[in-house]
Amino acid sequence: MSTPQPQKVGIVGAGWVGLVTGACLAELGHDVVIRDVDETRVAALSSGEIPIYEPGLEACVRAVGSNLRFTGDLAELVEEPRVLLVCVGTPAMYSGDADMTAVHQVVAELAAAGVPEGTVIAMKSTVPVGTGSAIRKELDERGLKHVGYASNPEFLAEGTALKDFKNPDRVVVGGDDDEAIDRVVALYDGLGAPLVRTDVASAEMIKLASNAFLATRISFVNEIANVCDATGADVTEVARGMGLDKRLGPHFLKAGIGFGGSCFPKDVSALKQLAGNSGYHFQLLNAVIEVNELQKRRVIGKLTKHLGSLRGKVVTLLGLTFKPDTDDMREASSLVLASRLIAEGADVRGWDPVAVEQARALLPGVDLFEDAVAALEGVDAAVIVTEWSHIGDIPFAEVQKTMRTPLIVDGRNLLDPAELRGLGFTYEGIGRPSA
Ligand code: UDX
Repeated sequence: MSTPQPQKVGIVGAGWVGLVTGACLAELGHDVVIRDVDETRVAALSSGEIPIYEPGLEACVRAVGSNLRFTGDLAELVEEPRVLLVCVGTPAMYSGDADMTAVHQVVAELAAAGVPEGTVIAMKSTVPVGTGSAIRKELDERGLKHVGYASNPEFLAEGTALKDFKNPDRVVVGGDDDEAIDRVVALYDGLGAPLVRTDVASAEMIKLASNAFLATRISFVNEIANVCDATGADVTEVARGMGLDKRLGPHFLKAGIGFGGSCFPKDVSALKQLAGNSGYHFQLLNAVIEVNELQKRRVIGKLTKHLGSLRGKVVTLLGLTFKPDTDDMREASSLVLASRLIAEGADVRGWDPVAVEQARALLPGVDLFEDAVAALEGVDAAVIVTEWSHIGDIPFAEVQKTMRTPLIVDGRNLLDPAELRGLGFTYEGIGRPSA
């Protein structure tokens, strides 16, 4: 990895994307200032506290020293020309459309602050197709014709974000101004990534379509798993066989209890709405969303198959975050499962290696544990919700003796069914044959 020519970068938004991007760009040698409206967050970051859990991020921020600074004042980002990366949230609204309030707020603030010649605004936030051309118009109307604009979507996954940044499958930059595109492309020089240089609308669509397609693969393999459940095939074998076809590939074919997180659910529904608002009914995405909703509930049927009524039964959820190696609980399957189980009359316990604190507010009525062995003592069933590697360290031979009913419902097909059955457990996976 060679290093790019250092540039001055400003990042708007010290959320997960802004922090990871800022730290990695600073590590590449760029001079980075990150601005956030939350002064408490800025103060914490300035004193070296990292408010999110992302492997390697804290060490990276520490290592880059003065290449990375934090501020609450947008004026600092426009004191001199910088590439300004917009990394603010675009959460889903009730309609399913992306809420663009924060993005437009940034444009208005930049216009008010006065932006010097040579500034380029690059949009990293995931936005509906058409946003870039609307922002270009807004910039021109607000007297910022001299400011370049580009779309530069991010493809970082939580838990592997630093690795994803340093080894990207591709860098996508869309724009209609060659100089602006060149400045953004140059930020990533030396990473050796294939470059997709394109127009703004296509860059915006690449991000939405990529996430929607990955989510489609997951819902597809989840439906295959459900058919496996009904027919006796094993979905882990099926996915292995499918994945060896080079046209399919092995990734995102892990069946389980559905996708969650801050991106897939939001981006799939944003693309569906975008299509609908443009007069096209995106039927496939409706199915992807519906399959994902139903998939989270498959666990209930597997529990009742063995326990009958769940009233008064004690069930432990192992893993509460939407996936391992993050403390993020947005759209996590645990949220739906816990409230469904409580509605069925079960007593619900929850264990997670990093997110017990976050879970307190989000899972009212759930008894939370930091120790998995204690969380499983005396219970009727353990449900694997998140495939944390820590679950492999649980002494299942001991736990089998302390559970009231040794039933494991493995919502992520993480464990070896033969091994657990050998220890005396009843094991149910998703799309794996019952013993
Ligand atoms: C995703 C994209 O991968 C990333 O490129 C994008 O920029 C942001 O959205 P992230 O949400 O962090 O990243 O997680 P990811 O690893 O993609 O997993 C998303 C969800 O799908 C998780 O709930 C995960 O458990 C689930 N999943 C993933 C499956 O159920 N099966 C799989 O095979 C893969």
